Amino acid sequence: MKIFAVHSCGPIEAEIMIPGDKSMSHRSAMFAALAEGRSTITGFLESEDCLSTVNAMRSLGATIDHVTTGTFFVEGTGGNFTRPAVDVDCGNSGTTMRLLSGILAAQPFRSRLTGDASLSKRPMGRIIKPLSEMGARFIAEGGDGKPPLVVEGGNLRPISYQMPVASAQVKSAILLAGLFAEGETSVIEPAACRDHTERMLQEFGIHLELGEADSQGRRRIALTGPQKLKARDFAVPGDISSAAFWLVAASAKQGSVVTMPGVGLNPTRTGIISVLQRMGATISISPVDPNAAEPLGLIRVVGSQLQGTVIGGAEIPNVIDELPILAVAAALARGTTIIRDAKELRVKETDRIAAVAGNLRAMGANVTETEDGMVIEGGHPLHGARLQCFHDHRIAMAFAVAGLFADGETVIEGVECVATSYPTFGVTLETVLSR
Ligand code: S3P
Repeated sequence: MKIFAVHSCGPIEAEIMIPGDKSMSHRSAMFAALAEGRSTITGFLESEDCLSTVNAMRSLGATIDHVTTGTFFVEGTGGNFTRPAVDVDCGNSGTTMRLLSGILAAQPFRSRLTGDASLSKRPMGRIIKPLSEMGARFIAEGGDGKPPLVVEGGNLRPISYQMPVASAQVKSAILLAGLFAEGETSVIEPAACRDHTERMLQEFGIHLELGEADSQGRRRIALTGPQKLKARDFAVPGDISSAAFWLVAASAKQGSVVTMPGVGLNPTRTGIISVLQRMGATISISPVDPNAAEPLGLIRVVGSQLQGTVIGGAEIPNVIDELPILAVAAALARGTTIIRDAKELRVKETDRIAAVAGNLRAMGANVTETEDGMVIEGGHPLHGARLQCFHDHRIAMAFAVAGLFADGETVIEGVECVATSYPTFGVTLETVLSR
């Protein structure tokens, strides 16, 4: 078992290179495999989750060659996939299983999707329901909508679907299935959630109708099928969800100056920056090409004293993956932070509300768990502790950062899981610790 052993450190002065965005890497491999022709993907995140997607697309008949770190040539199938000879192993990746289900729902064969222990506990009913309404057949072998999933695809009919949860994975699964259905498929999201599928499908030549958000933030996205993707080259920017760990570390440690070039700045993902700025952080952004399909730029953070805040409502989908590290920021801030409307955290790679609250308390923080979030009384000094990460990459990394502020040693056990989204996190942590 691998551990992170962390102690407190001085101000962080560094330029940190952030690896490719996980959400966009998954989509780049899937969309290039769906397209007609050859695409070159650069900046691809070679993490376990994204490589699960690459292997899945290979097992469906796409030719994907690894050229050099982060670069893949993909010979697309034009949407004519072949039946996978064996089960498709999605590993730890909910994105792989849910988006792929949308594609497989339309294929004229039966396939079986499996995952690790964590993925096998995650709810798939949210994609099974709409995709079944479109005409696909699913068996959730784990019972109660849980994996393994058997998908029997075929001719789909379009639907108009009002999503009960603001989930980009559900939205994407339906839109991907809609590419194969004759007529207009539409989804209404209850609050804006990451829009990489919309942006990247358009890049790959798909015509989409993007509605305006109403006063409650509800938005309609529609496409008329059938439509085929065209191959194209795509450069994946750095993952703001990975940058988030250093954003918090540098924001909360006075005297720090950290720059991170080439980070994705899609407005459906930059909530972490707005929340930290509201907490008093000094963060500036130099956009590279704000009009690119996926905007990116350089982020510069200067350390300061953070203050508590309230995080909730429509902001939650924008910071959903950053809430564990924001909770750590809250423990380091002066005053109270309330995180609410974040019940989705209970069905991530682990129950992130319980994991974060338990670990913060073990380090001496004052945290009250609520059904849909937590209340953190900041400013109590943190002390080192021996912590579990519950096979959850973001819990492991969030608490490695907490350890940089604690008195004594913090040990996080079972940190192999960081390889699912940020394989080089440990190397960067070592450089930060050695200063
Ligand atoms: C993702 C969507 C989010 C996010 C996950 C990646 C995506 O999940 O938490 O890490 O790439 O579409 P939900 O769709 O379940 O909110």
